[in-house]
Amino acid sequence: MEPDLALLATLGNTSVVGLQWGDEGKGKVVDLLAEQFDFAVRWNGGSNAGHSVTVGSKRYAFHLIPSGILRPQCVSVLANGVVIDPIQLLQEMDQLAQQGIAMGENLRISSAAHVVLPYHKRQDSLSESRLADKKIGTTARGIGPCYADKATRSNAIRMGDLLDEARFKEKLQRIVEEKNHLLAGLYGDVPLEWSPIFEQYRACAQQLRPHVCNTVQLLHEAMAAGKRIMFEGANAILLDLDHGTYPFVTSSNCGTGLSAGTGVPGSAVKSVLGIVKAYNSRVGAGPFPTEQDNATGEKIRQRGREFGTTTGRPRRCGWLDLVALRYSTRVTGATALCVMLLDVLSGFDELKVCTAYRLAGKTTDWFEADASQLASAEPIYETLPGWHEPLDAVHKVADLPANARRYLDKIAAFVGVPVRIVSIGPARHQTLVQ
Ligand code: IMP
Repeated sequence: MEPDLALLATLGNTSVVGLQWGDEGKGKVVDLLAEQFDFAVRWNGGSNAGHSVTVGSKRYAFHLIPSGILRPQCVSVLANGVVIDPIQLLQEMDQLAQQGIAMGENLRISSAAHVVLPYHKRQDSLSESRLADKKIGTTARGIGPCYADKATRSNAIRMGDLLDEARFKEKLQRIVEEKNHLLAGLYGDVPLEWSPIFEQYRACAQQLRPHVCNTVQLLHEAMAAGKRIMFEGANAILLDLDHGTYPFVTSSNCGTGLSAGTGVPGSAVKSVLGIVKAYNSRVGAGPFPTEQDNATGEKIRQRGREFGTTTGRPRRCGWLDLVALRYSTRVTGATALCVMLLDVLSGFDELKVCTAYRLAGKTTDWFEADASQLASAEPIYETLPGWHEPLDAVHKVADLPANARRYLDKIAAFVGVPVRIVSIGPARHQTLVQ
């Protein structure tokens, strides 16, 4: 039986954000909530994001399309703040179609969303190689270079440009010529030819054309008609360009960019669900104070199957950092928490949670997002008793082992926000609501 999330949906338009370094399980929550909403709207990021959703015996993989697409009554929207790799998007659409998911009017793409092109991916990889041990550890999906071009303006191509062949051709020719100077001059790379790119992306444009529209108008008309909207932030707040562990972040405002990325004002959002794993994980480089580069981290990695959906990289794993979580909750304005993967922690005698840092000779319980400062933060832990019972057969939070409930209570009390959803496995029914 699926959990009843109707109560959460009565709160009004809801936003779902990741509170750690990504991979918290937003896809599962968005999939469950989508049943209660008319729209699932993604506002940022691109195919750097990745998650899978399990429904019965089927597993669906997502990078760009909101997992709300699995619910036939829910329209999935890629809003203006998303950067779209048309090749990746069409592959994902094909894959979902093969799995029986129909895609027509229920997928809408903003004409103002920016397009990721092959030179963005080349630039991303070449820049990382050049940085060597200083690299960010990006997903090499071209996200940073695409957002950089968006900010530069003169070198940007939006979905609307892609649909206008003459405009696309003129821009692409000019941009490829400029990019070739950069690729050859800075990285010694071979030049790109514009015409095969033009042919390939022109074909993509034809396939995507029926889905492209003005999504700002779409969303405002939907709100005026009383439709219920769920917003999905890709990546997560600690990877946020402004509020994450800069410079080891992604290039969009993952936890704070809803308004800019959709054209919907923040005041239209009535509830913010913060998604958090019962522990911490991170892919890519950057400080991670509670990382356990040891047998504990390995146990969490294996039990939680912590390998990247997008790149397959093993994720770094560690204890739950409550200092970071309280910061994330404050910055995103999360009104409730969804604690995911609690089942992964079954089988530990003791569990640690970080409640303060030792930083520059002082004890602090404020999260310092600047990477160079955070790198020297030493976590101060509180130890809680663990539990050994498997959680798969639990149906209510009240039936969880006492120490699992104590762990959840500790999180809620420290952060100051209630835990509303607890996930104890990948299946839809393995979700406890309170
Ligand atoms: P980029 O977004 O590919 O530029 O990568 C920048 C940083 O964000 C790297 O550390 C990536 O591993 C990380 N990152 C980007 N998207 C995700 C995500 O969805 N989950 C986890 N990490 C991500």
